[in-house]
Amino acid sequence: MPAKLKLSFSKNSPKGDVTTICLIGKNGDIIPSLDKNVAAHLIRTMALAQFTGKSGKSLMIYTDTNSYLLMGTGDKLALGTEAETLGGKLFSALNKTGAKLGWLPDHKLAPTVLADVLFGAELASYHFDRYFTEKERDEVTVRLCVGGDSLSEKVSVHQDRQALAKGVFLARDLVFEPANKLYPLEFANRCLALTSLGLEVEVFDENAMKNLGMGALLGVGQGSERESLMVVMNWRGGGDEPPFAIVGKGVTFDTGGISLKPPKGMEDMKWDMGGAAAVTGAMCAVAGRKLNKNIVGVIGLVENMPDGKAQRPGDVVTAMSGKTIEVINTDAEGRLVLADALHYTETRFKPHAMVDLATLTGAIIASLGKEYGGLFANSDDLARQLEVAGSQTEERVWRMPIGPAYDRMLKSHIADMKNIGGPYGGAITAACFLARFVERTPWAHLDIAGKAWSDTETATVPKGGTGYGVRLLNRLIDNWQGASLSKEWEQSDD
Ligand code: BES
Ligand code: MN
Ligand code: ZN
Repeated sequence: MPAKLKLSFSKNSPKGDVTTICLIGKNGDIIPSLDKNVAAHLIRTMALAQFTGKSGKSLMIYTDTNSYLLMGTGDKLALGTEAETLGGKLFSALNKTGAKLGWLPDHKLAPTVLADVLFGAELASYHFDRYFTEKERDEVTVRLCVGGDSLSEKVSVHQDRQALAKGVFLARDLVFEPANKLYPLEFANRCLALTSLGLEVEVFDENAMKNLGMGALLGVGQGSERESLMVVMNWRGGGDEPPFAIVGKGVTFDTGGISLKPPKGMEDMKWDMGGAAAVTGAMCAVAGRKLNKNIVGVIGLVENMPDGKAQRPGDVVTAMSGKTIEVINTDAEGRLVLADALHYTETRFKPHAMVDLATLTGAIIASLGKEYGGLFANSDDLARQLEVAGSQTEERVWRMPIGPAYDRMLKSHIADMKNIGGPYGGAITAACFLARFVERTPWAHLDIAGKAWSDTETATVPKGGTGYGVRLLNRLIDNWQGASLSKEWEQSDD
């Protein structure tokens, strides 16, 4: 049963039908201090159940008056995703109890470890039930009360994680929404709501984009009744320094256009805005966390539809950068949207680095399966930092090649380039296409077609919209050490 989580902090255990949570260390050590008799009972029951405190295992124990949820931590509960997973499992186990009321007594955990546990519980509580009409599904609440000393310190680290969770939830919501409810204008409205967090939000309509010369982006949306939009979200926490930029593909539905997709699985194309969702969620988190840095988020919002005005295969469009593109396949639309969004972001904001996220190609799923996002970069520094942030958050990325040997496949006979390459290496030629719209900024492209939506749930990620990218980007920004172009991408200014 889906449930909400309500967290509270208090010195004393709440009254009522409480489940006391006990983390169990190596060799079955009970970490919190408990009444002697209770501890003896738990130890006997653990032995009977052959519960040794192995990481990831849990055990419910009932006495005639109380219940105890024992959770194994192995040698030592580590920071980060291990603690989060434990928190996720803790939420699920509490949700299975009758009273759904948990008490986590003081475990003398570091505030950051505790915050990660609670963050995991929070992430696990996410569910998207907007379109169910049986409203009682909504009303279930799991309450978790956290005890111990120096609560104020615990609360402040926790608040930072809460803001991050809010960003993850926003991204998941956007991804889950069907395309008849979430189209460019509705997406932009959700962005505008973020002004309450102190974000500056600008929305560009088709006219404004026409004036900017964004022929590549506009061509994709021209077969849709819905107006195409570009949204710029700006967080100015860092004074005059150049910003870090994140850019997202926001195709609210991708039919393929005139190069129409086959019907099977086409409903998945409602989440072809997963990149834009990640950017929006990340900006929400950055603002909620009040980071003292400048971060700008830019998303291109379009619907790729086939009607009488739709762009045709063979059409030639002119991108904002001035380059011309022969649109061989109207289903290779994400790169056309990003071409203009990237060029706009680079020229207006002159960011010190730029990362785009896009559900760009089926080919990346063929390459990496659904375990990693595909990473392409013109900067080894940026790529390495993304790899680190990816493994720390378990939003993993795997670096793929780009370069002239692939780029050549984009050659067109009537324009500066085609929008597709040859039959092989489709994720790579797509990345090479994007690279043509980045002039001199350290840049990385994340192809998240395999990551935005999940067919299976984990302790902290639901089936469906994952919110992938929000935690990765926030961690990248937190760890940021600067980046420069790799040697082969340096060009002389002649
Ligand atoms: N949105 C799709 C890519 C995609 C596929 C995302 C599966 C999520 C799951 C993209 O716009 C697309 O259609 N790409 C084509 C490119 C091809 C026409 C060169 C593809 O991958 O087949
Ligand atoms: Mn497509
Ligand atoms: Zn697409």
